[in-house]
Amino acid sequence: PKETLNITASGPFTPLPLPLMMMMMMMLLLMMMMLFLTWNRPQRQHVPGPLFLAGLGPLLSYCRFMWTGIGTACNFYNNKYGSLVRVWINGEETLILSRSSAVYHVLRSAHYTARFGSRAGPECIGMEGQGVIFNSDVELWRRARVYFSKALTGPGLQRTVGVCVTSTAKHLDCLVDMTDASGHVDALNLLRAIVVDISNRLFLRVPLNEKDLLTKIHNYFETWQAVLIKPDIFFKIGWLFDKHRRAAQELQDTMAALLKVKRKLVHEAEKLDDVLDFATELILAQEAGEFSADNVRQCALEMVIAAPDTLSISLFFMLMLVKQHPDVELRIVEELSTVSRTGEEGEENIDYQRLKVMESFINESMRFHPVVDFTMRKALEDDTIEGIRIRKGTNIILNIGLMHKTEFFPKPREFSLTNFEQTVSCSAANVAPGTRAGAGWLTSSSAPQVPSRFFQPFGCGPRSCVGKHIAMVMMKAILATLLSRYTVCPRHGCTLTSIRQTNNLSQQPVEDEHSLAMRFIPRTIQSPS
Ligand code: HEM
Repeated sequence: PKETLNITASGPFTPLPLPLMMMMMMMLLLMMMMLFLTWNRPQRQHVPGPLFLAGLGPLLSYCRFMWTGIGTACNFYNNKYGSLVRVWINGEETLILSRSSAVYHVLRSAHYTARFGSRAGPECIGMEGQGVIFNSDVELWRRARVYFSKALTGPGLQRTVGVCVTSTAKHLDCLVDMTDASGHVDALNLLRAIVVDISNRLFLRVPLNEKDLLTKIHNYFETWQAVLIKPDIFFKIGWLFDKHRRAAQELQDTMAALLKVKRKLVHEAEKLDDVLDFATELILAQEAGEFSADNVRQCALEMVIAAPDTLSISLFFMLMLVKQHPDVELRIVEELSTVSRTGEEGEENIDYQRLKVMESFINESMRFHPVVDFTMRKALEDDTIEGIRIRKGTNIILNIGLMHKTEFFPKPREFSLTNFEQTVSCSAANVAPGTRAGAGWLTSSSAPQVPSRFFQPFGCGPRSCVGKHIAMVMMKAILATLLSRYTVCPRHGCTLTSIRQTNNLSQQPVEDEHSLAMRFIPRTIQSPS
């Protein structure tokens, strides 16, 4: 022991191995950087949320968003810290709001008409500076939105019911082709096929391969939610990024090919009226030099993906809910039989304005189990929300899904039509004045309405869902056609709570082999005596 002591006490100095020294130096540097950041962090007013912890807080909150998905992370933070929460995404300060007064303020203000994502994410899917959905070039977004509004509101809406009814009927007539050996149909895929056919017939009107397009739309959506908030470094790793780049490119190429066909049809048409629709208007705008070819392709792409990504999944959730609530199904079917009249040529005509139970059912389904749970905005100016100072550039997430479950409704955590049938009347209707949809299709004037501040499944204000009126029309027409012919029966034990779901960019069922399958059992509606 004496010898050992001598050696350690007076032995020659042995240098540490170089890699170890480098690592220690790096750690020292990192600690100094964190200390420096903490020291220099400007003192802010207190907004509830995870602690900064020398930069660890932002890192952890960003990881949570990437790991669990944006929707799930928002719900976690709002449930933990309250209705106004500050977190960080990609190092940027982000507020998550689920308090209706704050959400309403942002929705209606012109200061929040931009969206946010990482720098390279929206670029990778062609949404940066193009299209409308995530275009943060406000000037270009505004110009493109005019074309969407024109196609999705006003006289264009009147054609929608007819197109929805014929397309749904056409797909139901071929149900046998989609039925497996056990008598089940993949309900989500059926709804997607109906919805993509309707979108094509309304906005594009070119022959297409429905199945192939749906696969590409699905892959594009997966890519969209995978890359939206990813850090720039992700896009430098070839093997991670290439798969996503390819999925985006495939749909872009398909859209370009469909537009080529459309261009030919436009140029060969004898009368422009015969081909006038959303795609034609875009092509003409491109020829007039208003939009680039890439922007036209992106606008057409977004119009075609908008409904399959939202509406078909909403309808799928509605079919699950209708089965779980037989009393509601009975009321819907009774109402359908009351408002349908057989026309002179034997066709069934439904007075959609009188479908009040159906309307409450659709609203309650979107409230109770939404597909679009939140929406993402960016502050374009300094502002104040509920006493909190918002600096220009702050990211804002409006957690509308949670807002619908925590404020106003008499039975917030339950699925119940009374949430829409027994609420107070309010003059501030959730509809745009002056449109046929606003006046008639969306809400009937005599129906009680929830004050718009508390129910915003489509958002409102300048950057709201531009398809909100047509979406209501489509849902009513598809459901009415489907439910008057069939009752559905999910696989034994499959309910909305039992099927696996993810909540990243939106709430989606996980598509495994069995859980989304349903039996479609024909029914005959009894005429009222
Ligand atoms: C945006 C919901 C169907 C087109 C949005 C937003 C929500 C939403 C919450 C964000 C609004 C905001 O930031 O305030 C839904 C739901 C639907 C639906 C729940 C169906 C159940 C549709 C349909 C279309 C459409 C059928 C078109 C055919 C769009 C577009 C935007 C949008 C283009 C981006 C608007 C912009 O940024 O200016 N939707 N939507 N949506 N929606 Fe929908």
